[in-house]
Amino acid sequence: MRIGVLTGGGDCPGLNAVIRAIVRKGVQDHGHDFIGFKDGWRGPLHGSAVPLGIPAVRGILPRGGTILGSSRTNPFKEPDGVRRITENLAEHGVDALIAIGGEDTLGVAARLSTEYGVRCVGVPKTIDNDLSATDYTFGFDTAVNIATEAIDRLHTTAESHMRVLVVEVMGRHAGWIALHSGLAGGANVILVPEVRFDVDEVCGWVASRFRASYAPIVVVAEGAMPQDGDLVLKNAATPLDSFGHVRLSGVGEWLAKEIESRTGKEARTTVLGHVQRGGTPSAFDRWLATRFGLHAIAAVRDGDFGVMVALRGADIVRVPLGEATARLKTVPLPLYEEAKTFFG
Ligand code: F6P
Repeated sequence: MRIGVLTGGGDCPGLNAVIRAIVRKGVQDHGHDFIGFKDGWRGPLHGSAVPLGIPAVRGILPRGGTILGSSRTNPFKEPDGVRRITENLAEHGVDALIAIGGEDTLGVAARLSTEYGVRCVGVPKTIDNDLSATDYTFGFDTAVNIATEAIDRLHTTAESHMRVLVVEVMGRHAGWIALHSGLAGGANVILVPEVRFDVDEVCGWVASRFRASYAPIVVVAEGAMPQDGDLVLKNAATPLDSFGHVRLSGVGEWLAKEIESRTGKEARTTVLGHVQRGGTPSAFDRWLATRFGLHAIAAVRDGDFGVMVALRGADIVRVPLGEATARLKTVPLPLYEEAKTFFG
C-alpha cells in the first residue's frame, strides 16, 4: 500500500517523532511505501511530494519542526481545491493519507473523508492542547516546560529589581499553557482567554505580592481579555491575526502599561512567542508522538479510515475525525479557580 503523510498548521515539537514512527512501523511490519507531501495541504494541492523511506527518518526523533514543512493552506478555500487534491493523490498512487495537524488540518481531513471518500487517518498535534477528543496533544508538554523555565528565570531578575514581570504565552482560545506553566513556575497571577480579567483585581494581587517583599510574575495567555476588552479593542489597533480573528494584539505589553500606571510600580513584558514551538521535544512528547504514529498505522492496517488517534488515560483510542474537531477544549472554571490559591 502507498501511504501519503503530511503535517499542517503551526509546527510543534514531536512532528518528526510521529513521522518516524509511521514510516518505521509501516515499512518494517507491513511493507508499505510512503511519500511525504510538502507543506501541509499545499503538498497534495500542488502535487509536491518527496519519497519517505527509512533513511529519510533516521536521526529525526529529537529534532523539532517537521521535515515535511507545514502551512495553513486550506484546499476548501482554494479554487478547485478538492478536485486538484483527489487528482494528485490518484496520480501519486496514494491509497491512504495520514494527516498530522490541529483543528484546521484535521477539519479538512474530516471533510475529504466524509464528503469525498478520501481514505484519511488523523493524528492530533498542537502546543495549545485544545483538541477536545484527546487528553493531551504532543507539543504541549514541551511548550509548558519552555514557559516554566522562562518563568523560573524571570523570578530572579524580577526580585533583583523589584519589578513586575508580565510573561505572555501562546494560547488564543485556550489557556492551558498559561495555566500549567503558571502553576509549575509559581506565578502570582495567571490570566486565560476563558475568564475575562479585571485589571484592578490584577493590580491588587501585584500589590499584595510587593507587600510580602517579593516581585510579582504575571502570566498572561495571548488571547486573554480584560473585562472591558470590547471597549479596549475599539480604541486600540486591532489587526486580524493569521486566522482572521480579532484579538487584543500584544495583551502583555498593554497589561504591563496598565499595571505601571495604576500601581506606580515598574513593569516589563516578555513575549515568549515561537520559542515555545521550537527546538527539541520533551521525553513525554516524543513518547506520545511515537505512540500516535504506531496507532495511525494500525488504523490503516484495519482499514479504519475517517478516524483520529487520541490519548484517553493511558490508552490510544480512535475517534471519528468529525467529532475530533467539533469542539475546542478550554480550561474549565474549577481548574482556574484552583490555581487562584497562589495568586497574590
Ligand atoms: O495553534 C498553535 C499556535 O502556536 C497558537 O498558540 C498561536 O496563537 C498560533 O499558533 C501562532 O500562529 P503563527 O505561527 O501562524 O503566528
